[in-house]
Amino acid sequence: MAFADLREFIAAADELGELRRVDAAHWNLEIGAITELVAERKGPALLFDRIPDYPAGYRVLAHPFASTKRTALVLGLSPQLTGFEMLKAWRQRLRQFKPVSPREVSSGPVMENTLTGNKIDLFKFPTPKWHEEDGGRYLGTGCAVITRDPDEGWVNLGTYRCTLVDGEPDRILVKINPPRHARAMIAKYHARRQPCPVAITFGQDPATWMPATYSGVPWGASEYDFAGWLRSEPVEVIKGEVTGLPIPATAEIAIEGEIPAAANQYVEGPFSEWLGYFADKTKGDAFVVNVKSLLHRNDPIILGTPWIKPPAPLFAIPVQAGVVWEQIEGAGIAGVAGVWTPIFDSPFIIVVAVKQAYPGHAKQAGLAAVSCRAANSGARFVIVVDDDVDITNFEEVFWAVATRCDVNTIEIVKNMIAARTDPTLTAEERQTNEILRSRIVIDACRPYARLNDFPRVVGISAEYRKTMMDKWRRSIEPE
Ligand SMILES: Cc1cc2nc3c(=O)[nH]c(=O)nc-3n(C[C@H](O)[C@H](O)[C@H](O)COP(=O)(O)O)c2cc1C
Repeated sequence: MAFADLREFIAAADELGELRRVDAAHWNLEIGAITELVAERKGPALLFDRIPDYPAGYRVLAHPFASTKRTALVLGLSPQLTGFEMLKAWRQRLRQFKPVSPREVSSGPVMENTLTGNKIDLFKFPTPKWHEEDGGRYLGTGCAVITRDPDEGWVNLGTYRCTLVDGEPDRILVKINPPRHARAMIAKYHARRQPCPVAITFGQDPATWMPATYSGVPWGASEYDFAGWLRSEPVEVIKGEVTGLPIPATAEIAIEGEIPAAANQYVEGPFSEWLGYFADKTKGDAFVVNVKSLLHRNDPIILGTPWIKPPAPLFAIPVQAGVVWEQIEGAGIAGVAGVWTPIFDSPFIIVVAVKQAYPGHAKQAGLAAVSCRAANSGARFVIVVDDDVDITNFEEVFWAVATRCDVNTIEIVKNMIAARTDPTLTAEERQTNEILRSRIVIDACRPYARLNDFPRVVGISAEYRKTMMDKWRRSIEPE
């Protein structure tokens, strides 16, 4: 079912008992702290209202998608599925992908308030300062930055953090790291000494937002087409009056403006980053957006998705693991029984299960995983296990590593592209254009030649297990 906007998602989460309303928490740290504490407890989505200094009704939705039920709502999957079954269902859905183009409409709720010139004030919303050590108030965490490629004409949506600039209510900084698509587009405008037109939304229907975070959408393909497919309905967009860019008609808050070609000296960051560290305080690296138009709905809702120290995930399944899986198979490796990333939103550790069919199969799967594009954002360890191992259970994966891995077979793949937010990088390394780290492939499978005579795993047979469960259920699983 497609949600028209963030509000319909909130109503659906509420219906499932997955929403908690919190009144009167302060934008300065309190909203962030409550979000962190509830996320640690795997609690519901949080809708903050009556935020001090702001009108009642100006709200923040935080910790939105982290349960299986809420993830299912966004991905259009059954809320009964959990864990690996949900990841498999997601992958099956991906297989049926067909682009669905956005539909332009002449107006929409996002236009309820349209402000230009000196009426633009980005401080009019209750933007949280999420953590004590953040370098500012981040309006953009669950945001979508919209740009058009000047040569090819297609439109990209990407989630890149955006921070308010003290004393400059019509400017915002946006941190777009290489090799993000928007960064490549902006470079094209700037090489021609032209400003880059940009629109940014801060709150929209989650299925229109999710593709903006998803590395499975390749260069040249618009996240709008992916969102249309995910929603099973085209995304309705208005044509921005300043930039001509398509903007979701039901977005909560949107801006239009441009990123000038001139260098800037703004300091941005640090901010809580996906790997669980405050990272990326830079001078002149974040782009400045000069805002020309501010649009917002009545009683707008900021979508807040600040990173919280892992394993607190954004979604309840590691959606990016499905992309790694796809890319391993794309390299021609059959027999992959599953892929999982135990630190959910990061491929720092990738676990691959294979049903070995020939000598060297496991190693080949490991090398394909370690070098696929989806591993680029930070892969450090690839662990390959047999298909009898539950890859969603990290204790079981480590049991396989401890008991099946011949350390002599470990492969170190040197000098691969690393994440700019990798906490092991030095400040000097971060300045360079060659940010590299090595990766390791751990083959924790039984040797192919010994599959038949490798010691048998302790445990009762599946058949006897069932017989005993039927006979002794009350002693094993008392009510
Ligand atoms: C909550 C969240 C925040 C993110 N923040 C940033 C960011 O500040 N800068 C960045 O370069 N990527 C960030 N990302 C990652 C990008 O959104 C992601 O890589 C996306 O696929 C990029 O889109 P693109 O491939 O169209 O550039 C973030 C992702 C999420 C889920």
